[in-house]
Amino acid sequence: MLTDKRILLIIGGGIAAFKSLDLIRRLRERGAWVTPVLTRAGEEFVTPLSVSSLAGEKVYRDLFDLTDEAEMGHIQLSRSADLIVVAPATADLMAKMANGMANDLASTLLLATDTPVLIAPAMNVRMWEHPATRRNVSRLRGDGISVVGPNEGDMACGEFGPGRMSEPLEIVAAIETALAEGPLTGRRVLVTSGPTHEPIDPVRYIANRSSGAQGTAIARALAVMGADVVFVTGPADAERPEGVHVVEVQTAAEMLQAVQAVLPVDAAVFAAAVADWRVASASDSKIKKDKGQIPSMEFAENPDILATVSQMTEGRPRLVVGFAAETDDVIANATAKRLRKGCDWIVANDVSPETGIMGGSENAVTLITEDGAESWPRMGKDEVAHQLAVRIAAALG
Ligand SMILES: Cc1cc2nc3c(=O)[nH]c(=O)nc-3n(C[C@H](O)[C@H](O)[C@H](O)COP(=O)(O)O)c2cc1C
Repeated sequence: MLTDKRILLIIGGGIAAFKSLDLIRRLRERGAWVTPVLTRAGEEFVTPLSVSSLAGEKVYRDLFDLTDEAEMGHIQLSRSADLIVVAPATADLMAKMANGMANDLASTLLLATDTPVLIAPAMNVRMWEHPATRRNVSRLRGDGISVVGPNEGDMACGEFGPGRMSEPLEIVAAIETALAEGPLTGRRVLVTSGPTHEPIDPVRYIANRSSGAQGTAIARALAVMGADVVFVTGPADAERPEGVHVVEVQTAAEMLQAVQAVLPVDAAVFAAAVADWRVASASDSKIKKDKGQIPSMEFAENPDILATVSQMTEGRPRLVVGFAAETDDVIANATAKRLRKGCDWIVANDVSPETGIMGGSENAVTLITEDGAESWPRMGKDEVAHQLAVRIAAALG
């Protein structure tokens, strides 16, 4: 699957750099060409000789190496690959990337490139959880950079938690997804997912039980089939999918804004459980608890994202798919919803508590199209996602 793919592998200065030697081996076994770049700190952890021996190519190390510039300029080097992989991606490299800095060879290549980029972060758990790193990761995802890992586990520094670099084979799988060519290659697809949080005051909010699992699985399945996926998600528990552009939002209003910024797309799948109402005048400061005083709240209707996009007169996606989470008369309600909203398909599911679907790993859906209702057997959410992606590919032709 990776035969003759060209990977520019940037190795940053972290303990996990030793795993990148194995990553090179795994990529070469699969027929990929690996051009390695070592940061100055990376050289402290693995030697240029071992990296170049395994890669079978010279190691690029210095922005101002005139010999390298004569052979292949840094701009050309940044664009010569099918994919740039940063492994390990240190906190420092991620901060540089998020801020557009270019003060060494690795960061300059990353700023000068128009090639897709995948990063495999690796760092101490406190560094990973630091607000600055959280901000940087979220900005990088928003810039369309794919992120694989990190995993949770024992760390070289003796601590435990998220921060361990993904294993080489996990990175290979993420590379295969990023380079996937399939029936949706060249198609741009929007997926919304998760709940929205509607503030009551700065510390309280109204939410729902959506875990984001089904939307995440759909985004992943579409990406595996080669689609360029933009994933707009509310604050969901599910891990963000690899190989897609992630946009994080909190409220329904923010989700609508994010969706409009993503258009035009070929297809849009609205799997998010968007809150129907918000508190009309959310308080800017925490509402105090006064004994015997129970605050009353007025609600306002949230924007209807599915209807807004379905009823666009210009630039409407060719295929708009909505979701209907129902507890009664699932098919009748979902069929009516399809017509009311003006979308092409509705994926309906019964979210009554006894089904265990909301927050669970399985789903039993009915696909409602203009041809009628088609009930699928109960299956894993990943399988539902795959089947839906196959149908979307067929519909887009
Ligand atoms: C022993 C040791 C281990 C380190 N491990 C990591 C690490 O796993 N992740 C990380 O982000 N930084 C780590 N650092 C800090 C980086 O090496 C340092 O931030 C460096 O400037 C990164 O440079 P680079 O991003 O250009 O590779 C480590 C430093 C030392 C001395």
